[in-house]
Amino acid sequence: MSAQRKDDHVRLAIEQQHTHRGDNQFDEVSFVHHALAGIDRPDVSPATAFAGITWPVPVYINAMTGGSVKTGVINRDLATAARETGVPIASGSMNAYLKDPSCADTFRVLRQENPGGFVMANINATTSVDNAQRAIDLLEANALQIHINTAQETPMPEGDRSFSSWVPQIEKITAAVDVPVIVKEVGNGLSRQTVLTLQNLGVQAADVSGRGGTDFARIENGRRELADYAFLHGWGQSTAACLLDAQGAGIPVLASGGVRHPLDVARALALGASGVGASGGFLRTLLDGGVPALIAQITAWLDQLAALQTMLGARTPADLARCDLLIHGSLRSFCADRGIETWRLARRSSSLETLHEMTGSTR
Ligand code: FNR
Repeated sequence: MSAQRKDDHVRLAIEQQHTHRGDNQFDEVSFVHHALAGIDRPDVSPATAFAGITWPVPVYINAMTGGSVKTGVINRDLATAARETGVPIASGSMNAYLKDPSCADTFRVLRQENPGGFVMANINATTSVDNAQRAIDLLEANALQIHINTAQETPMPEGDRSFSSWVPQIEKITAAVDVPVIVKEVGNGLSRQTVLTLQNLGVQAADVSGRGGTDFARIENGRRELADYAFLHGWGQSTAACLLDAQGAGIPVLASGGVRHPLDVARALALGASGVGASGGFLRTLLDGGVPALIAQITAWLDQLAALQTMLGARTPADLARCDLLIHGSLRSFCADRGIETWRLARRSSSLETLHEMTGSTR
């Protein structure tokens, strides 16, 4: 059952890549162009640091798979691409392994192919502390992701229907394991309230994984005989909206969900993310063109992100969070309703602050 579900997820996620790209609202975020802001490419660094973690680059391959023969091969190929490009990588949910250790190799391959890389283990929020540590140990993981996914479980025919244990269990796991914990959504987004709750639970970072890319309500509905949960398609907040909502929430935030190209990566970093993940798009590249195609895509993303940083005057990915941003359209309405002052984002660059200091201007 579990192995079949893993294969279904891959098949339906790829189908979605071809037929349905959600509205991620990234196109409602634009940089104010400052024509003299540019710096020199050799001065640009791609490294990012958060929650005691340092990554050589701010892009990562987010959680996807493992647990069946086919998905073990996918994990081997993803791990090879991660090793060749230096990007961090997460496993898919390891609860399949925790229930049936005979599929261990389909996950362990992530470490075997990528011995020096940053690898994240992934579990659900009902996992016992002992099992969380078993998942970490199998991968010699550098961090633990805990996924929270009520809008996936609800239409999933065999999904969970009880969610109240998740908060205390996340707290227990976080207190007990020996690596940083990142709690992530799976494509429906984390609200500010959720991020604040995670901070109170002691979680080290939150991956907002918002709406606009892979849609798991749609995937699970596609696995239902009657497909009678179509009204849940597109549930939740976009990644851009989540990043705006989480501004100043207190713990580092990662971005994933609907990231299409290097400009979306730059936008997410400018909206405050410490790193930016992609899943469905990278999987599509891998299955269409093999490992060389995925390596070429990630290499191009990193190169073009550095080019954007050079143009925008951002020596590090974190510096992008000082660039002036304009928020348009429906995302602007979201900000108005959530009490987010978009004008502050449009006037935050240091050159403008300096100008204000010089002139006493409030504009
Ligand atoms: C996922 N995702 C996921 N997330 C997670 O925490 N555990 C998991 O086991 C899986 N499984 C999974 C399978 C497949 C085939 C895909 C495409 C994705 C969710 C993933 O990590 C991410 O949060 C969302 O896919 C949104 O990002 P994209 O796909 O829009 O870039």
